[in-house]
Amino acid sequence: MEDLTHQKYVICPAWPYVNAPAPHLGTVLQLLGADIYVRYLKLRGADVISATGSDCHGTPIEVAAMQEGITPKQLVERNHNNILKLLTKWNIDLNYSKTANPFHYQWVQDFYHKCHKNGYIFAKEVEQLYCEHDKRFLPDRFVEGTCPHCNTSGARGDQCDAPNCGKPLSPVELIDPVCKICGKPPVTKTTKQWYYDFSAFQEKLSTYIRQNKQLPENARKFSNHILEDGLQPRTLTRDLDWGIPADKAIAGAKGKSIYVWLEAVLGYVSASAELGMELHNDSKFWEKYWLNQETKTIFFIGKDNIFFHTLLLPGLLLGAEESYGKPFVLPYNVSTTEFILFNELKFSKSQGIGIYIDDAAELLPTDYWRYFIAATRPEVKDTNFTWQDFEQRINNDLNDVLGNYIHRIFVLLHKYFDGKIPECHRLDDIDRDFVSTIHDVSENVADYFDRFEYKKAVSTMIDFARSANTYLSAKEPWKLIDSDQSAVETILSLCSQSLRTLAIVFSPIIPETSEKIWKTLNLEGSAAEQKLDEAGKLIIQPGLVVNESKPLFSKIDIKELQKKLLKLMKTKSNDSKEEKNMSDQESKIIPFEDFQKLDIRIGTIVSAENIPKANKLLKLRVDLGSEIGERQLVAGIAPYRKSNDLIGQKITVVVNLEPATIRGVRSEGMLLAAVEGEKLGLIISDIQVPNGTRVS
Ligand code: MF3
Ligand code: ZN
Repeated sequence: MEDLTHQKYVICPAWPYVNAPAPHLGTVLQLLGADIYVRYLKLRGADVISATGSDCHGTPIEVAAMQEGITPKQLVERNHNNILKLLTKWNIDLNYSKTANPFHYQWVQDFYHKCHKNGYIFAKEVEQLYCEHDKRFLPDRFVEGTCPHCNTSGARGDQCDAPNCGKPLSPVELIDPVCKICGKPPVTKTTKQWYYDFSAFQEKLSTYIRQNKQLPENARKFSNHILEDGLQPRTLTRDLDWGIPADKAIAGAKGKSIYVWLEAVLGYVSASAELGMELHNDSKFWEKYWLNQETKTIFFIGKDNIFFHTLLLPGLLLGAEESYGKPFVLPYNVSTTEFILFNELKFSKSQGIGIYIDDAAELLPTDYWRYFIAATRPEVKDTNFTWQDFEQRINNDLNDVLGNYIHRIFVLLHKYFDGKIPECHRLDDIDRDFVSTIHDVSENVADYFDRFEYKKAVSTMIDFARSANTYLSAKEPWKLIDSDQSAVETILSLCSQSLRTLAIVFSPIIPETSEKIWKTLNLEGSAAEQKLDEAGKLIIQPGLVVNESKPLFSKIDIKELQKKLLKLMKTKSNDSKEEKNMSDQESKIIPFEDFQKLDIRIGTIVSAENIPKANKLLKLRVDLGSEIGERQLVAGIAPYRKSNDLIGQKITVVVNLEPATIRGVRSEGMLLAAVEGEKLGLIISDIQVPNGTRVS
């Protein structure tokens, strides 16, 4: 195995949008993939850091906050904290930051300040989509329409999600766009925006893609596809309040914020810098990784995010490098995954499709899920989650093969040797085969990890456990215990060694289980601290007394799990309904200034008449005192009062309401009344006050 002790790595899983309180299995794919890789690289002794976190800005967040009736900031705080807890539960041990951190804001603003100085940012007046109804511009996901490239409907303003298209889009390109908030077609309106000049890097990026030999085929193809169309300048700013203010980076860009993708991808660097400050109070720490051409940066991303990582991020880094003294290292490799489908459907929170990692963790120990996800990782094509598949992986692989083998060895050690690891004596051919199996497994696993082929890495591990089982069954030590003690010692000695090997090689996938095995073996330190290239050595000393073991896994019953999951989803949707009611109540509260805007006066009705063909309406003239004079009102009170009875009646009127024309008659105010069933009560002062008196 190649020595990686001095090799620097930055492991970069895509930053999940925190629009939901918990990621689903499809989103955790990237984080888990990265966690496994970090754990693997640590076993190789590499110098590895990770950089990821919550992607807090952008329209997905704003839309979600709007739907919940809370502010984006509140939504982000709540969800981010929740995700942190869940990641701990899942043993996803990454440097997990968030783009809402002031540190990230400053880093990004400083970065674009530099790009601006270097001449890669320019301003332009542009036509953008604007919703007259909601009185706002509609960037990105605030608008949907038909994709101009592939004609699929439902394309979002930032990207088309159709499987064979995936092109980045801008809202004005959409055919028949509609506002995501109100569903109405928007208009176009001119506004000033700032652009990042990607076209300046066409040559450099083409060369970079060509020379990057390890990029997987799909990423290369997709990148070339975009390069062939020619790189265009991309809008850097947006007319949104929620985001990183652009004017700290670019003088004059007041009221604009930086487009979420163009700041989130920089999070990989900013989170590394933040880590350096946290760990070592070292502001130059990140430079040792990112301004170092020897570093390998590896991105774990979904197939829909290729462009942003193979072209956008490097294109940005190239625009700033002259200001940082040394060039940035460009992405070394990306590990892309396809989608996990749930009964052939894409995961969707809003439609309640899929499994979320909080529910998953309540159903079963997270090692079960980690194992399953790694063993079925959608590496070449979309995979469909099925409970049958899940049951089979857990019950057969984890329980019957791995768990049972390990438990049996511990039981036999206690039964025959009081828990003491025996000596190893003369080996026969079967023993020697087994020794070489133990020796080879880590090398094979490493080969697959190096190629991001987790599925094969996992099946190599489980096959190893299977062959250990086969070895034990072939040797049948329980038949030899009375006749050939020395043979039994050899068998159980080798089997014990294999437990150590299993604990180490499995540790990136099921860390909690690995440490349990390690503890039961009574070895020093932890499985995670070991070196992979020593995992196959037979180095447990005879005489070591192991602890009592408990079964590592238990069989699952998918019918029961499904029932439990349904119950969990139900209670959660009730909770969120309650939350929504609460926030509806809260959103009905208005500030005092709003109330003060109302001009309410006491007046006297001077005339009242019916309106032809409108049998509910009366036309009233009201004396509102000298300041306001007489006003004409149309009021829907005909069913309750005769017009004649109303003359001389005191009433209360909102006088500064926008005038309206009702059935062709102009109304310049609204009278206040309380309606209860068939009765109507006019609101009046309980003492006589002059017309025009203010109500407050
Ligand atoms: N939040 C994005 C998504 O879920 C991914 C952002 S990756 C980053 O699709 F590089 F921008 F951070
Ligand atoms: Zn609208």
